[in-house]
Amino acid sequence: MKNKKKIPVCVIGAGRIGLSHEFDKKRMKPASHVGMWARNRNCDLVAICDKNFSQYKKAKKIKKNIKFFKDPKKMLNHIRPKIVSIATWKDTHFKITKLCIHHGVKVIVLEKPLANNIKQAKEIISLIKSKKVKILVNHRRRFDEEIIKLKKKLDKGLIGEIIQASSYYVYGLLTTATHTIDTLRYLLSGKAGEIKEVYGFKNNFKNFASYDDKNYDAVLVFQNGLKVTLQSLDIKSYDNFDFYFYGKKGKVLITDIGRTILKYDIQKSPEHSGFTELKKISSKICSSKPRKQFSKLAENAIDCLNKKNAFPLCSAKDSYIDMEVINKIILSAKDNSRKKKINIK
Ligand SMILES: NC(=O)c1ccc[n+]([C@@H]2O[C@H](COP(=O)([O-])OP(=O)(O)OC[C@H]3O[C@@H](n4cnc5c(N)ncnc54)[C@H](O)[C@@H]3O)[C@@H](O)[C@H]2O)c1
Repeated sequence: MKNKKKIPVCVIGAGRIGLSHEFDKKRMKPASHVGMWARNRNCDLVAICDKNFSQYKKAKKIKKNIKFFKDPKKMLNHIRPKIVSIATWKDTHFKITKLCIHHGVKVIVLEKPLANNIKQAKEIISLIKSKKVKILVNHRRRFDEEIIKLKKKLDKGLIGEIIQASSYYVYGLLTTATHTIDTLRYLLSGKAGEIKEVYGFKNNFKNFASYDDKNYDAVLVFQNGLKVTLQSLDIKSYDNFDFYFYGKKGKVLITDIGRTILKYDIQKSPEHSGFTELKKISSKICSSKPRKQFSKLAENAIDCLNKKNAFPLCSAKDSYIDMEVINKIILSAKDNSRKKKINIK
């Protein structure tokens, strides 16, 4: 494809996930928004925008002739990109997303969260409806081929009816558990429906989190009655992103920060006649290698631009529901763990 036919793309916010992760030797590439667009042969990453000029030098190491702006408005007016990635600080997403929409951008790849509060999230959702804009929120497990395959398998009854599940996270309900909640909703929605109510709990153990985003525990109740626990650990001890799903025909464990998916079948008990139990040896149902989630995200964004009937694998509505669940967990934890209903309109 000749350069002039390539899709013009810009990135706003070239910090860690916007750019710097591309220089982390351990990470699978692309590992950032700049890397994702610079490596995509159907796109031309024309410019980046950041408050911090020093990021420009780094970006030039990835794409020599890239342009740099400090003001997003100037960049949008000058470049007129068709796709924009937004990876700025979380409290700026609402304002910058609106700015992009008002400058005619039709596809936006947005880091979570969608907005600062539910009112703003609803405003964005009604705006994208009226302006025919597609927003892809980077809840990265929805762009993970192995998680996508697992969802299909669970829907087809891989471990039968799922009757209990638990999940673990570190470092903040909004920062990390938002990914856990989103992954649970994605994997379970086929059989269990949406989360209809939550019970939140403060974590009273010493555990590390930022001052404005604490660790909370919760019980999430899905529409079919399935209860899932969401439990926080201490990132200073170790990172963790485990999920346990107990079905009537076996168990699935997602472990290794999501890289490994294991299935445990049922066997006759070696010790008690007439009883069955889960095997202690599992079978791996994926390769345990990191997956190219950023490549899948770019592919989905390009489809959303070019095809009328293509939709975000993680939509603004998904992010809004995740936000509502998080808000209600905090509300419940501050109200003696009383039940809080999830209101989605
Ligand atoms: N999806 C994921 O797995 C994941 C992982 C990490 C971070 N995030 C999200 O990505 C976002 C960025 O996180 P980070 O860790 O990269 O932060 P960061 O501080 O490293 O980077 C943010 C960058 O945005 C720039 N910026 C902020 N406001 C700006 C504005 N108005 N105009 C231009 N530039 C601006 C800053 O100068 C900075 O370089 C956050 O919303 C965070 O929640 C998502």
